[in-house]
Amino acid sequence: MSVLLSSGKGQFMNKPNNSIPLRVNNITKRFYQGQKIIEAVKKVNLIVEKGDFIAIMGPSGSGKSTLLHLIAGLTNPDEGSIEVNGKDIFTMSDSQLTKFRRKHIGLVFQAYNLIPTLTAKDNISLPIILDSRLSNIEKQLLGLLKDLEIDHLQSQRPDTMSGGEQQRVAIARALITNPSIILADEPTGNLDSINGQRICKILRTLCDSQTRTIVMVTHEAQVAIWAKKIVIMKDGQLIDSINTSEIKDFDSLVDFYQSRLAGTASLQ
Ligand SMILES: Nc1ncnc2c1ncn2[C@@H]1O[C@H](COP(=O)(O)OP(=O)(O)OP(=O)(O)O)[C@@H](O)[C@H]1O
Ligand SMILES: [Mg+2]
Repeated sequence: MSVLLSSGKGQFMNKPNNSIPLRVNNITKRFYQGQKIIEAVKKVNLIVEKGDFIAIMGPSGSGKSTLLHLIAGLTNPDEGSIEVNGKDIFTMSDSQLTKFRRKHIGLVFQAYNLIPTLTAKDNISLPIILDSRLSNIEKQLLGLLKDLEIDHLQSQRPDTMSGGEQQRVAIARALITNPSIILADEPTGNLDSINGQRICKILRTLCDSQTRTIVMVTHEAQVAIWAKKIVIMKDGQLIDSINTSEIKDFDSLVDFYQSRLAGTASLQ
């Protein structure tokens, strides 16, 4: 697994682009708040390979959601480019990008974002229905319902489910199209710690057993530790990264995180 934090040089330059689910190239996003210019994301580079599970961890306001929205093509950058499966997403028209996103990017948000009038089964099937790909998804749907332990909820609407159950339905919806990459923004943010840990375990299992590729943002160490690699974001920049296999215990992750936030050194 590899994350490229510095400029686009090195081992990845020789790989065909379409074998890499995500490549973020020198991306910058500015917001204008009155007279003030906020550089929410500053010249970020990131490469995510198939089967990676990256947690982007950083304090509130460090630019995590903005970066994820850029990767999803939900907001336009001021500089730089993003390639999903080798396709430069910002060269597409809005309608091309909408179709591309539906097929290649699975989104999981803190607030579940399910359609209240639809059952769990219909919420999960929605991306396929919208894409007019009414091909035989029944087998895949049943597999997802089983994997996420929500088969008993198929006919229920979101308001009759717990937060953890709704988030598992949202994850199934993100997976139904077999996207190149799954993007999760604080997926456990609205859950208690037991349900939050359950969601983390599901994401890790998807990555380990199905080679799913996941980028998740969080400000919580107990969530980030489930990833394979943690990238630390501060003031719009990715300042350091660590493989979770190298982390001795939870306290050492917290020490690492706090020391990197306190430091002034940046790798970019
Ligand atoms: N639409 C917007 N207009 C103006 N400023 C914005 C907008 N969205 C984000 N910002 C600013 O950009 C910066 C980064 O915001 P962002 O939401 O990406 O942070 P975050 O790391 O996701 O924080 P949190 O952990 O609180 O969700 C913040 O200073 C925020 O105020
Ligand atoms: Mg955020």
